[in-house]
Amino acid sequence: MATGYFFSHRHILGIDHLSVDDIDHILTTAESFKEISFRPIKKVPTLRGNTIINLFFEPSTRTRLSFEIAAKRMSADTFSISTSTSSATKGETLIDTARNITAMQPDIIVIRHSFSGAPHMLTRYVNAAVINAGDGTHEHPSQALLDMLTVREHKGRLDGLKVAIIGDILHSRVAHSDILGFTRMGSQVFVYGPSTLIPPDLDSLGATVCKSLKEAVQDADVVMTLRIQKERQDDPLLPSFREYARFYGVNREVASWAKPDGLIMHPGPINRGIELMPDVADGPQSVILDQVTNGVAVRMALLYLVMGNS
Ligand code: NCD
Repeated sequence: MATGYFFSHRHILGIDHLSVDDIDHILTTAESFKEISFRPIKKVPTLRGNTIINLFFEPSTRTRLSFEIAAKRMSADTFSISTSTSSATKGETLIDTARNITAMQPDIIVIRHSFSGAPHMLTRYVNAAVINAGDGTHEHPSQALLDMLTVREHKGRLDGLKVAIIGDILHSRVAHSDILGFTRMGSQVFVYGPSTLIPPDLDSLGATVCKSLKEAVQDADVVMTLRIQKERQDDPLLPSFREYARFYGVNREVASWAKPDGLIMHPGPINRGIELMPDVADGPQSVILDQVTNGVAVRMALLYLVMGNS
């Protein structure tokens, strides 16, 4: 890391805004926080007196819970609002919701929204630091950071690795953030999926689009599988899930094409038997639950670092 480095981000809106030093610093900070989750008393006073609001306008299990756990383990006061319990169901706009929440003086707002760019818009209306927990098909920075942390933990590095990302690249904010993050850290990213689910501009992000599943997975250090984002497709872009599983699903044979110590990853939720077969999801190469554990550590690091810049 460059000498004199300091983390200068007030908000975490996307991997796009983070330099190699920023990513390295976030991962190293997360590594130092990880041990707290394994203590008998899982609490440090670091964010005591800070108020964190989780604003989730889309379903979430892992991301929301791990932001809440991260905040609580750092002694912050944390509150969560989801679509069904917010006044969005009564027609309130996001900007009005944001202004009202700001009037209550939160320090950090964590937001997930189906509209790409919602967290960026929020920064114009609130005083709090904003963390993007997934915006439409755009970015999901904390997921990419926990993915990079998991790979770095298992491989000792990120540079020079072959990372294969398989599936619905077009609608996946995870794929977008992972491509930006892994390539920035020196990995080579190869993608494969149905041609209807591959966006045209991937080369400009530094990813290689493969012509076959084998080309993508062969000798990979990491195989990242993705869920079909049914909720983001107006017209079905796939013939059927059965065909998808046959041609794009990662089964034991496909996993064997990767390096013997290649990692199988998935951001969750898994559609078992479609993009990933159960014996591979639960097999010896799978680090899917490590991703979840690391999600708490990465989110503790993000909350801590943005508070340092408030
Ligand atoms: C992802 C998301 O919401 O983008 N899930 C997650 O945050 N762990 C991926 C998905 O929903 O498929």
